[in-house]
Amino acid sequence: MLITDIKGLVGLHPKDKLVLRGNELNDLPILENAWLLIEDGLIKDFGEMGNLPSSTAHPYYSAEGRYVFPSWCDSHTHIVFAASREEEFAMKIQGKSYEEIAAAGGGILNSANKLQKASEDELFQFAALRLKQMILQGTGAVEIKSGYGLTADSEIKMLRVIHRLKDQFPIPIKATFLAAHAYPAAFKDNHQGYIDLIINEMLPQIASEKLADYIDVFCEKGFFSVAETDQILKAGAKYGLKPKIHANQLSVSGAIEVAVRNGAISVDHLEESNEETIETLRNTDTIVTLLPSCSFYLGIPFADARGFIQAELPVALATDYNPGSTPSGNMNFVVSLACIKMKMFPEQAINAATLNGAAAMELSRDYGSIAVGKKANLLITKPMPSIAYLPYSFGESQVDQVILNGEFYNG
Ligand code: NIG
Ligand code: FE
Repeated sequence: MLITDIKGLVGLHPKDKLVLRGNELNDLPILENAWLLIEDGLIKDFGEMGNLPSSTAHPYYSAEGRYVFPSWCDSHTHIVFAASREEEFAMKIQGKSYEEIAAAGGGILNSANKLQKASEDELFQFAALRLKQMILQGTGAVEIKSGYGLTADSEIKMLRVIHRLKDQFPIPIKATFLAAHAYPAAFKDNHQGYIDLIINEMLPQIASEKLADYIDVFCEKGFFSVAETDQILKAGAKYGLKPKIHANQLSVSGAIEVAVRNGAISVDHLEESNEETIETLRNTDTIVTLLPSCSFYLGIPFADARGFIQAELPVALATDYNPGSTPSGNMNFVVSLACIKMKMFPEQAINAATLNGAAAMELSRDYGSIAVGKKANLLITKPMPSIAYLPYSFGESQVDQVILNGEFYNG
């Protein structure tokens, strides 16, 4: 396929650029008035319209007035769940905090009760519907976590659902094992009992069936302590599972330190942070994944994106799509919020939601930017005056067409 008359071809980073740190995020290379040639699902070539190869027998698509972006790379989601939780929405509006709702029988345990009763087929149907919507909104690579099972059977059921999504969707999907999301009621006073279950029962089975790529822990007051997190991450490492951690969502908890010590690919959330957070992350390869639609929905602080960028850290953006803290999988809105609420420039936010999102899933060799030889997972916008118009026009989708592996995707 040949795409012609592209107003701007966005995100032309050199193919060997795998992650953008600090000020590198400011640079979003764009080729104006461009063409893009796709062959065998890969980006074959691109250039300016003045140098359009004359002898191509390819079917072509004119993108006049439109921009072509690399697909969004959403590196943090929880889209396998059995039911929405809008009853908690009303509690939130009344003024209850996330912690208070959880303590009142809502929260993760509420989702776990419902998920334990749902069949694998039902869960697959629900998650597939969500994923399809996300793709139509421009997402072309995604990470999905377990963590609403909280028993060996149900955690494995969730991971099998993710495995089926991997088989049936034309985008790369990474699976993260998050049994350490909350303590089930039965282990409320026996934390070590649940940790033993994770380490001795769940992990060996998951590893033998190759059901997970990463391991995650919700390291937070009232959830998993730093010492508990350390124990779980070390056990995961024995099976080759690298950490991606829920860190500093509600408090500065020591989560960043334990994550970095265990070689985390990413630390995610960081709505709460201080100088020490930044010092711990400085000069490491750990990616800082920010989730501004979680802050928006919960009414908690937005992360200090500018501080992290100033400290030369690699910042990524993701949705956190889940029924409790972020009932939305819309990366366009995440990019808007990043600009509006975290004061990221459009170029920074777009880089963070594409190449750095891919990097936070170890996919940036093949996804997240436009370079010859990379996968042709792209989005074509509606006609727009500039790239900044996409985050500026928040709430209105500018995504017109989605291309996955070089083919139009219509759901
Ligand atoms: O990333 N913080 C932990 N996990 C989710 C919320 C889970 C839930 O409330 O169901 C999050 O925000
Ligand atoms: Fe999350």
